[in-house]
Amino acid sequence: MTLARGQAPTAPSDQPQVTKDNKLLRPANYREWIYLSSGLGMEYGKARNDIGQFTNVFVAPSAYRQFLATGRWPNKTMFVLEERTASSRGSINKSGHYQTELAGLSASVKDENRFPEKWAYFSFPSAEGASAEAFPKPMCWDCHHEHGAVENTFVQFYPTLKAVAQKFGTYDATKAAKETADK
Ligand code: HEC
Repeated sequence: MTLARGQAPTAPSDQPQVTKDNKLLRPANYREWIYLSSGLGMEYGKARNDIGQFTNVFVAPSAYRQFLATGRWPNKTMFVLEERTASSRGSINKSGHYQTELAGLSASVKDENRFPEKWAYFSFPSAEGASAEAFPKPMCWDCHHEHGAVENTFVQFYPTLKAVAQKFGTYDATKAAKETADK
């Protein structure tokens, strides 16, 4: 970005947008963000029998670039977790699974000034332009904090970022190895 003389640097446009009543706005163009990985039928309570859904993880490009340079997430980092229905046997496909409809959209935000616990978690209603309030801490934060390999985030499941964090010494192998109780 080139700045005209005297112009103040503006915050990257992929940072979280908050409404007047302090809700997080659903990011319109997260599909143009950096894609980290997909899970299929990932479960944390107990194992599932059916195939489950796909989860696609995206992170804002400005935060991604800083992570590559430092192995840490800058303030105002934002992630999106997109859920999609898994289908099989459609068109020419005979085995395996592919993604179809949107089934859910969640986000996480790091903001050291807004949240006493630094990270907060959200899920959006399906409509474009929707906004969401942060979840109470036990619903999302606890698991992310206890098991995320880098600062509340599941870098152990993002293959290209894992090596970056290991290089900078920010990868917590103990948290990544810790299992959850079978419920
Ligand atoms: C029991 C553990 C657990 C709980 C509870 C949990 N998550 Fe996660 N979350 C994960 C795992 C594991 C991943 C890795 C990616 C995946 O599952 O596809 C993840 C990934 C994410 C990501 C992508 C960024 C990152 O941190 O790696 C977001 C956003 C997210 N979860 C939101 C939520 C929200 C919102 C809630 C609460 C409604 C929640 N999570 C509750 C385990 C959990």
